[in-house]
Formats: sequence, C-alpha cells, structure tokens
Amino acid sequence: MRVNFTVNGRPYEADDVWEGESLLYVLRERMGLPGSKNACEQGECGSCTVRLDGDPVCACLVAAGQVEGRDVVTVEGLADYARQRAAGGCASGACGDAKNTGTSVDAAQRWEARPADSQTGEAAELSTVQQAFIDAGAVQCGFCTPGLLVAADELIERNPEPSDADIREALSGNLCRCTGYEKILDAVRLAAAREETQTAGTGA
Ligand code: FES
Ligand code: FES
Repeated sequence: MRVNFTVNGRPYEADDVWEGESLLYVLRERMGLPGSKNACEQGECGSCTVRLDGDPVCACLVAAGQVEGRDVVTVEGLADYARQRAAGGCASGACGDAKNTGTSVDAAQRWEARPADSQTGEAAELSTVQQAFIDAGAVQCGFCTPGLLVAADELIERNPEPSDADIREALSGNLCRCTGYEKILDAVRLAAAREETQTAGTGA
C-alpha cells in the first residue's frame, strides 16, 4: 500500500508499505530519521514518542497505514516546531486553547518546518526543552531522550505551569534506565520556567 503524510512539515510518500509496518519503521528505515528510538517495540518505553496531529504517540504502536493524510513531528523537527509555536502561527496550543486541548489538527496542518534543518535536526537551534535537558544534566546514554523531549515539550505546550505531579504523569510512559529521573524533572521545570520568562518578556 502507499501512504502519504507529512513529517516535520514536509510531504512524504511511502510505497510498498506492508500491513504490519509501523510508523517507527517508516521513520527510521525508510526516511532515515533515527531520532525516534526503537527500544521495546511494544509501547512500553516511550523512546519512540512522536506527535501525530499534535498528540504524543508511541510510533511503534501506530501502523503506517494509520498516518495517511496526517501530520507527524519527530524529535528532528522539534526545534522548528517549538520556534513556530513561539511565533504564534503554528501547530501548537498557541493557536488555540493550549491549556485544555493542546495542538489541534487544523493547527498541526498549518505547521511547516523550515527546509534547511528540520528534516535531520542538523544545525538546528535547540528548543527550550532540548537546551534545558542539557543544562540540567538530564541526558546520560541518551536513548530515552528523544521520546522524553517530545513528551515534555507537549506537556509544556498544553500546561505551561506544570506541577511535579503533572510532569510525572506526562512522562510516566517514558522509561529511563540511567538518570533516576530527578534530573529529568529538573529539566522540565527549567524549560517551563524559561518558557514562562520568554512569554512574559514578549508580553504574550
Ligand atoms: S519502542 Fe515504542 S514504546 Fe518502546
Ligand atoms: S539517559 Fe539512558 S535511558 Fe535515559
């Protein structure tokens, strides 16, 4: 079967997709986007988390055929996604009621990645969440990190002032074998605080 969808704002056509093929397989093996990790392939670890029409999903559990006509954002496009959200004309809660609904399908469909760097993530300026993970020391082996970044960014978009309980709940599907989670919590708190400061600075 043939599947047409957008990844990080770019249209993509996958041919000869077999029925059991996952979105994760298409991203990693057909598109050369290895940011979304394949750890368990059973929906247990969250390392493959991407956004599908704005919602965080485990790409290993999504059949490729299910993404026909839909929009996917991977960690490679996260920085551009966040940048456009900050600009206010994007696939984000900034276009709607972020606290209650997160990204709408319409908003996600209006989002476009910048062509220069969003497909591979190379040379991309880091998003607030990405920088916060570095600054808080929340990355060790890094295998869980892409999924955590996507999930944490979605949380802050939906809930700009998350409590510790909110963070724990939002990241409960993302397993990390290295950090003990404290640094990850620090990173999300830091990202939320920085986003709040930036928003206050722009008067938004
Ligand atoms: S690889 Fe998808 S949840 Fe673990
Ligand atoms: S940093 Fe190694 S699994 Fe999380």
